[in-house]
Amino acid sequence: MAPLASKPDLDVMKQVNRRFVTGVTVVTAMDGQTPRGLAVNAFSSISLDPATVMVCVQRTSSTHDCLFRADHLAINILSTDQLDVVGTFASKADDKFKDVEWESGPCGSPLIARSSAQMEVEIRERLQASTHTVFICRVVHASVAERHPMVYSAGKFFDGGALAPLG
Ligand SMILES: Cc1cc2nc3c(=O)[nH]c(=O)nc-3n(C[C@H](O)[C@H](O)[C@H](O)COP(=O)(O)O)c2cc1C
Repeated sequence: MAPLASKPDLDVMKQVNRRFVTGVTVVTAMDGQTPRGLAVNAFSSISLDPATVMVCVQRTSSTHDCLFRADHLAINILSTDQLDVVGTFASKADDKFKDVEWESGPCGSPLIARSSAQMEVEIRERLQASTHTVFICRVVHASVAERHPMVYSAGKFFDGGALAPLG
């Protein structure tokens, strides 16, 4: 892609990103017999019907190539009970699943216990976006639990069940 004639200041872009509030997911896949995953907040729903979502993963991530090779992924939307899980999956630990309770989804992807919601998805497209791969996925299984979602904003984690409504 051709470079832009001008580009925004990096610090300003960091500030811009800090103004955007998201949830936190852990995106997982099986690497042969080994479960792999990383923390991802670049998740979005694309359409409800057909249920289509996307996640963006940095190509230098050690989990990237396993996700890229997979047919299916799981997207675990983290709950307020899972601060320990974010720490683990945002790390570079060798075996992130060592102390994490999980089970295989219907298509074999790792579903992490205590999540607020979970999806198993079939990868439909893998788009190269410079430093990242955008995975466009069709949801094949979905479930929700009675657990409030974790909220992420400006480098901090919040209780998604304690948000103050406007108006
Ligand atoms: C809240 C949060 C959100 C993150 N979102 C993303 C993301 O959307 N995409 C990504 O590639 N990395 C994201 N990361 C960073 C990865 O989780 C981190 O680089 C991790 O160490 C990668 O592990 P790996 O190299 O073992 O795959 C996020 C980290 C945190 C704490």
